[in-house]
Amino acid sequence: MEFAAVVAFTLLLGALIALVAVAVRKQKVETGTQEEQAADTVAADEPKPPITKKPKPEKQRTRKDKAQHSFSHPLVASTLKSHSGNVTSIDFSSNGKYLASCADDRTVRIWSVKDFMDREHKCLRANVDLDHATLVSFSPDSRAFITWIFNADTIRIFKMIKKEDGSFIFKAAPEDFPQKHKGSILNIGIAETGKFIMSASSDTSIHIWDLKGEILASINTNQITNSYAAISPCGRFVASCGFTPDVKVWEVCFLKSGEFKEVTRAFDLKGHSAGVHAFAFSNDSHRMVSVSKDGTWKLWNTNVEYKKQQDPYLLLTVSCSSSEGSLAALSPDGRVVAISDGCDVAMYDATTGRLEEELRGVHAGDITGLRFDVNGRFLVCSGDKAIRVFHNAPGYRAAIKDMQEMLRRAQNEAMKQRLQQQIRDAQRALDTVLAAPTD
Ligand SMILES: *[C@@H]1O[C@H](CO)[C@@H](O)[C@H](O)[C@H]1NC(C)=O
Ligand SMILES: *[C@@H]1O[C@H](CO)[C@@H](O)[C@H](O)[C@H]1NC(C)=O
Repeated sequence: MEFAAVVAFTLLLGALIALVAVAVRKQKVETGTQEEQAADTVAADEPKPPITKKPKPEKQRTRKDKAQHSFSHPLVASTLKSHSGNVTSIDFSSNGKYLASCADDRTVRIWSVKDFMDREHKCLRANVDLDHATLVSFSPDSRAFITWIFNADTIRIFKMIKKEDGSFIFKAAPEDFPQKHKGSILNIGIAETGKFIMSASSDTSIHIWDLKGEILASINTNQITNSYAAISPCGRFVASCGFTPDVKVWEVCFLKSGEFKEVTRAFDLKGHSAGVHAFAFSNDSHRMVSVSKDGTWKLWNTNVEYKKQQDPYLLLTVSCSSSEGSLAALSPDGRVVAISDGCDVAMYDATTGRLEEELRGVHAGDITGLRFDVNGRFLVCSGDKAIRVFHNAPGYRAAIKDMQEMLRRAQNEAMKQRLQQQIRDAQRALDTVLAAPTD
């Protein structure tokens, strides 16, 4: 074992443990930030037409509580419940601080990740007047988000503007994007590079846009119908899947000057024997997971030189239950795979394929969003009015297992002691989060 690798790894784990310790301490102290409290009730500052009825918060709350689907599990870290309609999409900001959610209650809500372990979950609210957002995706600077607006049938950008008193207002861009999709929309996204926006519909069309709403390129996926499409977290690739048994991946190329150049075929994931429901990338795009109608999920190594005709290779095939609308998520470090099937979620160790956790009946309806946070501490999902936040215990366990393996191979005494200490710390951190009271 290379010393440098061990140091890098232990640093990373140290950071993870520190995060957990902070979260646990915070839960005891219960300090809410001024900023978020002040901004709690701030809505979009667009002038509202008189016919817009603002819902009465008090009434809504009692009605909502009655309709709450009950679910409990030892891994639940918290349940975020302010939406009065079904949550249809969730997205973490890349700085790791926020979770955005949108629902058919005409609001987009921004949650603070550092509050997840607190009893109270404050959120900021952006209103979508006379319409609602069905998809939401954060911009790379975490200061704006894009939405798919249901009736307007197009993309709308919202900016988060911080006022002098520390509160936020949300301002919709003066113009929506032009309507270009004929089929039902599957997903939208903004590249982490900030260079393009993607929108994909089930009729096999994907549009690549600049940030002003001009189409740079359009792709026909030729997959008969599409079930899912997404931009890779590195912002370089766009991928899609659907009726055909492959996942197709394109590279969106820009010139050095920053100008758009072209969209080219990068590589395919070939190996499933039936249509593919969904896929996900690891944060560095070196791994992908796909879930198919053939009754399996597959993990792929996509860190290949596809320009030299190298194909991605299959690392693992694991049987799982899935159905139309199933989603996949891969923890940022690639250690844990999560697959949804209806209102259930299963978590697997990505190295061994072992089923680690089964979360059944998490929501009243089918899971609409499934994401790990950027630090891999939490798995979050939506499927009714509430958002469930789970501790990524399989991720902690896999990290501990990796350290134990390192310990087994460690040559010198100092390193052994250090690893032993870190294993104890990690185990204690895991025990602490699991012992923390949940709501
Ligand atoms: C990916 O996640 C790992 C583990 O959380 C982190 O160390 C790394 O910096 C992340 N990389 C990128 C490109 O975000
Ligand atoms: C919200 O989800 C629940 C559970 O799936 C469903 O019964 C209900 O009809 C949905 N409400 C709307 C307005 O779609």
